[in-house]
Amino acid sequence: MKILVTGGMGFIGSHTVCELLEGGHEVVIVDNLCNSSVSVLDDIQAITHARPVFYQEDIRDKAAMDRIFAENKIDAVIHFAGLKAVGESVRMPLEYYHNNITGTLVLCDAMRKGGCKRIVFSSSATVYGMNNTVPFREDMPTSCTNPYGWTKMMLEQILQDLAVSDPEWSVVLLRYFNPIGAHPSGIIGENPNGIPNNLFPYIARVAAGTLPCLSVFGNDYDTPDGTGVRDYIHVVDLAEGHLKALDWTVANRGVEIVNLGTSRGTSVLELVAAFEKASGVKIPYKITERRPGDIASCYADTEKAARVLGWKAKYNIEDMCRDGWNYTAKGMKK
Ligand code: NAD
Ligand code: UFG
Repeated sequence: MKILVTGGMGFIGSHTVCELLEGGHEVVIVDNLCNSSVSVLDDIQAITHARPVFYQEDIRDKAAMDRIFAENKIDAVIHFAGLKAVGESVRMPLEYYHNNITGTLVLCDAMRKGGCKRIVFSSSATVYGMNNTVPFREDMPTSCTNPYGWTKMMLEQILQDLAVSDPEWSVVLLRYFNPIGAHPSGIIGENPNGIPNNLFPYIARVAAGTLPCLSVFGNDYDTPDGTGVRDYIHVVDLAEGHLKALDWTVANRGVEIVNLGTSRGTSVLELVAAFEKASGVKIPYKITERRPGDIASCYADTEKAARVLGWKAKYNIEDMCRDGWNYTAKGMKK
């Protein structure tokens, strides 16, 4: 199939593009490079020996999106493009709503005009909000506390409304838990600009010596060691989940909402210990205040992913730390 991947130069998108190319699909990427670099194209080629077609365009650009569908017979879309930093979304709500919501509306309109009605969308476990108990199941009520989360909730609603309006649409809303790690080649991975907000890239920078010490945000949560528990998932497992979701859109119509996680919770201190073991580097840390908006525990019920998509994560925390460290260590040598 010919797949349009929006945001295909980013962290999760680039890993998914590699899986698609290795699975024999043709790939067209649209990305405005606001959070990625054009060099990712060479990286993808180095891994897969194939080069996707690339459009450096903004998905909010109607004319550009129409042109992409006119120039390519797209069978399905995997839609990653979006802004994703929770704190930034609180400071810049208009930019987040405009980028994420308007971008998706323009994309879906171009899809409709282009006769392509299959879409796999990047949602997030953030939509489970503060009031559910773990493990999180797809039929639990959703809520959120920041503009980023609202964009995911609103887009889930918009895509469901679209499928109701026209039964030819096939929509999979994938709720990711915490994607970490890197491609086993060490060629692509996560390398955020500035000081990382998320735990795994922060630990990696401390291990690499570019940041002095990790702040552990609270050790008085109701969890086994008091630190926050999350469901970390290897980015390659996550990428494979998208290929399964794509298969679903070919065989079915309507909407499915599916968690992509491992169903296993890992605390901050457990992740630190696993990273130290994988890297052989001691990670200095200090306990600080809780981060506002954080919940104690977040992990997935993954029964639906297995039943509906036939997908299950293969990699464990050790694999995630090994591959994440391999990528970081390779970058240090450059
Ligand atoms: P990323 O920032 O690495 O990738 C997103 C890509 O989209 C970037 O390459 C960026 O340049 C591009 N982009 C953004 N706005 C665009 C626009 N208007 N037009 C064209 N390109 C645009 O992020 P990621 O971690 O790969 O996340 C991908 C998706 O998954 C996002 O929608 C994100 O919200 C969602 N998600 C991520 C996580 C996570 O922890 N990484 C968790 C849950 C959900
Ligand atoms: N943490 C620290 N120190 C840090 C960073 C994080 O102790 O420097 C802790 C947090 O308090 C939390 C855990 O590490 O307990 C994980 O935090 P992350 O920031 O890595 O991830 P979150 O679960 O807070 O959020 C991430 C994305 C969201 C997404 C969510 C679910 O940032 O956008 O996963 O997919 F919605």
